[in-house]
Amino acid sequence: MSLVDSERRVLSGMRPSGRLHLGHYHGVLKNWIKLQHTYECFFCIVDWHALTTDYTAAGQLADNVMDMAIDWLAAGVSPSSATLFIQSQVPEHAELHLLLSMICPLSWLERVPSYKEQQELPHGRDLSTFGFLGYPLLQAADILVYRAGVVPVGSDQLAHIEFAREVARRFNHLYGREPGFEEKAEMAILKLGKKTATLYNKLRKAFQQEGDVEALETARALLKDQQTITLGDKERLFGYLEGGGKVLLPEPQPLLSEAPKILGLDGSKMSKSHNNSIFLHDSAVEVEEKIKRMPTDPARGHRTDPGDPANCPVWPLHQLYSSEPTRTWVEQGCKSGGIGCLECKGPVIEAVQQELIPLQARAADYQESPDLVRGILAEGAERARAEARETLTEVRLALGLNYR
Ligand code: TRP
Ligand code: SF4
Repeated sequence: MSLVDSERRVLSGMRPSGRLHLGHYHGVLKNWIKLQHTYECFFCIVDWHALTTDYTAAGQLADNVMDMAIDWLAAGVSPSSATLFIQSQVPEHAELHLLLSMICPLSWLERVPSYKEQQELPHGRDLSTFGFLGYPLLQAADILVYRAGVVPVGSDQLAHIEFAREVARRFNHLYGREPGFEEKAEMAILKLGKKTATLYNKLRKAFQQEGDVEALETARALLKDQQTITLGDKERLFGYLEGGGKVLLPEPQPLLSEAPKILGLDGSKMSKSHNNSIFLHDSAVEVEEKIKRMPTDPARGHRTDPGDPANCPVWPLHQLYSSEPTRTWVEQGCKSGGIGCLECKGPVIEAVQQELIPLQARAADYQESPDLVRGILAEGAERARAEARETLTEVRLALGLNYR
């Protein structure tokens, strides 16, 4: 059994909805690319999640998965730093989902906000399915099966991560209490050696009696560094610290990206379904045409009418792409009516085109070698499976499913 340092392990997932746009790139992928150098990263194409809502479009799934994998790679997600894989190629996600479903109260699923919200959207799909109700539980399984402590997500996913934490807590509470837990924990403390044991006891007391959260953090760090005790003992001591049982499934933390929200061409959220996106594969001409067609501050009916960047969807693009002097030029020219909107859009068009050149060159390489992409995903699935299997071995044991 390998030691999982859950605070250094990242898992995130994305639904294969087709080609990616600038919102995905700036909002998600750039953050992943940063994380992949400092964390042990697992990035999952969640094809089962796509089926929970788009079960009538299953025929498109394979192409969408491939397109998304190519866009990830083109953006710079690196298979030598991170593990990229397809959810359905790691069946352990489904096994954990099933096992967690035994202990997940129906009411928890029914009260997740996205459950009602999605059903009320006018997309014409019938989402009163078992699979869709279980969406957050499948997501919890995605995370918990790797014992990932860090989950980079957008704010729309916070409720799902909180749900995963609650499920993990319930699981640990029900199954982390093996017979003789306290005795085993006390035995494990002795194995730490006298000095460390004394310190552990002191910190545990400070947390449990005085609620000293810093002591809890210090004790966790202390445990993490222990090389001489088994993983089982370590989990006992983590659990014992907080007064619970063994921590079988650590509770994940969300990691919100600081990236600015990139808005669509019309000023609302960039989304494929809003038809307001600049796609990573858009040609230079398409980029130019799309940005040229963008609406601007309605006050600027004539070229000489003054406007205000604050009322213009082009302005966020300047904030993302333009230098300080260019932004000053925009603000002054807009407010005085000194520049035209087409002129103002010029630097943004240029910047987006430049940004996409290297990305599209890499995408073309992968597009030409689909076997290379399949190989990356197959290898990723293998690496992911090895980790997921270890968790399942322990989970089965905890549930008494260890037949010989
Ligand atoms: N629900 C997420 C979304 O719609 C996708 C997702 C599935 C996910 N499993 C995950 C995200 C696990 C983070 C971790 O964006
Ligand atoms: Fe928008 Fe620029 Fe036109 Fe001002 S000048 S309204 S910022 S496009």
